[in-house]
Amino acid sequence: MTDMRLTGFGNHHATEAIAGALPVGRNSPQRVPFGLYAEQFSATAFTAPRHENRRSWLYRMRPSAGHGPFLPYDRDSLLRSGPFDERPASPNRLRWNPLDMPAEPTDFIDGLVTYAGNGDVATGAGCGIHLYAANQSMVDRAFFCADGEWLIVPQVGTLRIVTEMGVLTVAPLQIALIPRGIRFRVELPGGAARGYVCENYGALFRLPDLGPIGSNGLANPRDFEAPVAAFEDVERPTQIVQKFGGRLWATTIDHSPFDVVAWHGTVAPYRYDLTRFNTINTVSYDHPDPSIFTVLTSPSDTPGTANIDFVIFPPRWMVADDTFRPPWFHRNVMSEFMGLIEGEYDAKAGGFAPGGASLHNAMSAHGPDLSSHDKAVAAQLAPHRIEGTMAFMFESRHMIQPTAWATETPLLQPDYDACWTGFRKAQLPVTQGDI
Ligand SMILES: [Fe+2]
Repeated sequence: MTDMRLTGFGNHHATEAIAGALPVGRNSPQRVPFGLYAEQFSATAFTAPRHENRRSWLYRMRPSAGHGPFLPYDRDSLLRSGPFDERPASPNRLRWNPLDMPAEPTDFIDGLVTYAGNGDVATGAGCGIHLYAANQSMVDRAFFCADGEWLIVPQVGTLRIVTEMGVLTVAPLQIALIPRGIRFRVELPGGAARGYVCENYGALFRLPDLGPIGSNGLANPRDFEAPVAAFEDVERPTQIVQKFGGRLWATTIDHSPFDVVAWHGTVAPYRYDLTRFNTINTVSYDHPDPSIFTVLTSPSDTPGTANIDFVIFPPRWMVADDTFRPPWFHRNVMSEFMGLIEGEYDAKAGGFAPGGASLHNAMSAHGPDLSSHDKAVAAQLAPHRIEGTMAFMFESRHMIQPTAWATETPLLQPDYDACWTGFRKAQLPVTQGDI
């Protein structure tokens, strides 16, 4: 299979792995070339407005309808789904050390563990936040999620993601988006891999509007890449595992489901290289709100109040005059789950390791730790560049509730609050308040 790509966010792509496989002038001709089967894949309702409508037509060797019943998946899984009610929602700030790589042979599906989430898969609001640690390629297995689209953020190791619509190779500092329902297989060409997944139950991720920024900037549409059609003609039993209604289900078919020879349309897996992000920040004073770093957003029904924003903190120049340059102290109505792909986050000099995670829920006070604060206040302000770092955030309007596993794992740091102790009291010119 090839790894060539089609460019442009949400574009209407057309691709065929064999010349002449793609019907011309109609989607569903009486006889599809080569006896292929036409299948419409709808990622939005038929009646979604034209500018939001996403659907593709797939031309495949056999209909994907040809399978027996799905039965409950027979292995233990740490995947969880909304509603997240295993434990009471915690008002505490939480931070986790990185996942260990598995000791036993573990593929992507079995290496997933849910840390937190919100909303409800059944009502289509909120998200699940998973991490994965795997050391084996999926073999004769395919996965799809009926509950939401998957935004995959690799942190260690390259993923070769074979999908029905082609192949995406995704390394750390790149992301992949697998549409809800698209079957895929994760291979690990470079060995063990670790990373993060945001399962979006809500409206499809899209590029944020740019407002006064203008017609260019942040993540530029041309840098999003979809795969060209590629297929395999394999007559061997393949297990298909799906996540549906918060649980895993499995069935086995007698051939590879990756048999789409041609496709066209507006929904497809895609990847994006985070190093291409056009980072915008102040050239005068004050650190802007971190929404300036939004890569993708899943809107909710309330304008400007996201179901989920995917936000990154990339390398960038810091030039602000008379400004406390790290992210400021903050209490937020939105809830923030952070991860770190590489380097050091500029508000946390220690304790937040690549592969780790933190959760600052609605209205929990957070901000720079003591040492990062003191360093920023004492700094001689000159232009300097933050290098070699890539932190990110899944930010949501809905409270993010950790799973039982996440609240009980030894990876949870017992002393996270301590990073905000030791701040000196401000020295006022008068010693009495006036309340
Ligand atoms: Fe914040």
